[in-house]
Amino acid sequence: MFLGLLISLLLACVAPGALSSSPADNLLVLTVATEETDGFRRFQRSAQCFNYKVKVLGHGEEWRGDGQKVRLLKTALEQYVDNEDLVILFTESYDTVFASGAAELLKKFKQTKSKVVFTAEAVAYPERRLEPKYPAVREGKRFLGSTAFIGYASQLHKLVAEWDGADESSDQLFYTKIFLDPVKREKINITLDHRCRLFQNFHGSEGDVVLKFENGRVRARNLVYDTLPVLINGNGPSKVRCPPYSADEATVYTHYLSCTVLFSQELHHQKRVEKFLQMHSSEYNNVKYVGPEEASNFAEARNAGIDICRQNPECEYYFSIDVQVVLKNTSVLLSLIEQNKSIIAPMVSRIEDLWSNFWGAVSSDGFYARSEDYRDIVQRQRV
Ligand SMILES: *[C@@H]1O[C@H](CO)[C@@H](O)[C@H](O)[C@H]1NC(C)=O
Ligand SMILES: *[C@@H]1O[C@H](CO)[C@@H](O)[C@H](O)[C@H]1NC(C)=O
Ligand SMILES: *[C@@H]1O[C@H](CO)[C@@H](O)[C@H](O)[C@H]1NC(C)=O
Repeated sequence: MFLGLLISLLLACVAPGALSSSPADNLLVLTVATEETDGFRRFQRSAQCFNYKVKVLGHGEEWRGDGQKVRLLKTALEQYVDNEDLVILFTESYDTVFASGAAELLKKFKQTKSKVVFTAEAVAYPERRLEPKYPAVREGKRFLGSTAFIGYASQLHKLVAEWDGADESSDQLFYTKIFLDPVKREKINITLDHRCRLFQNFHGSEGDVVLKFENGRVRARNLVYDTLPVLINGNGPSKVRCPPYSADEATVYTHYLSCTVLFSQELHHQKRVEKFLQMHSSEYNNVKYVGPEEASNFAEARNAGIDICRQNPECEYYFSIDVQVVLKNTSVLLSLIEQNKSIIAPMVSRIEDLWSNFWGAVSSDGFYARSEDYRDIVQRQRV
């Protein structure tokens, strides 16, 4: 669900700065992004939408691991350490969007009466054995997460002062150990956002959040704590990093159909496939037919097809389509390419049926789960 959620949230933004009158001078957003992924650009759009001031650290550096983020933050904080009023939000950006502006974030931060606030998670990571060491809480998620935290520049400077870890080591474990030390916790004055008033992350909490549509705007609401988080992080158990997009725009139209792979597993379709090839293969630059005797299953065939594209430097786009899908609009490939995304899937569904090429939600064991808005999405009542 969270991908749909993130995209929906962005639909609320009609123009940069549209939802905020003036930038908040005493809030700065720092984030580490070694590469410009689609997710990063989505983060940037949402930040612009709400007029946040964002400074990107590590751009162009080789990615080595989460410890790198602490190192970059430590260096970046040097120049802000004497700025008494400055509040800094440090956040992930590949899988994060803002749902509201800086004024609301600052207000909620100040209401915590703490000088540093971390996002909270339902499970202690990376070391669950540390769970008993955490202070008890009356309500909410109990464990420290490192995908987002906010604090006064001077206090964040103290937080990372002792960092001398390797780039490959865990940032979350580093912050966890500081938090679990009662002396440091009090001195730096750290608390966690137990009830998701500032930060929502989805690790183990996908089911807690729904989208509320009101007056043409959409906002994520946490149903468990009845809160409207400001920053939404779609993190999961595995953090996927995508390669940067790099297409030479000039060659888009000449090469996108340079290779067509046709896979058929069904003996009884063989005649039809051959007839199709006789009639239409001249319309493609190149056709490779993988018959039932060559590939034993769909997964293998899919991988083989992608490999053919990967191994050919002239193959800039790969379009995968299953036999159940009928495309009637002849400009669909062009439209998809023009979206300029690393990966894009159009929504296809059976006419007047709840059967589609996406799931509204995924259950904890990785299978289909019905989301509350599945029907609305398939029927295009929610877009
Ligand atoms: C942080 O400081 C406030 C007072 O400024 C205090 O009430 C609160 O208990 C402190 N929190 C921690 C975790 O030390
Ligand atoms: C085909 O799709 C494009 C892009 O979505 C759209 O603008 C166009 O109207 C469609 N054409 C037909 C015949 O439906
Ligand atoms: C496509 O995206 C890339 C990367 O953000 C950008 O440099 C390029 O200008 C975009 N092209 C178009 C036609 O929007």
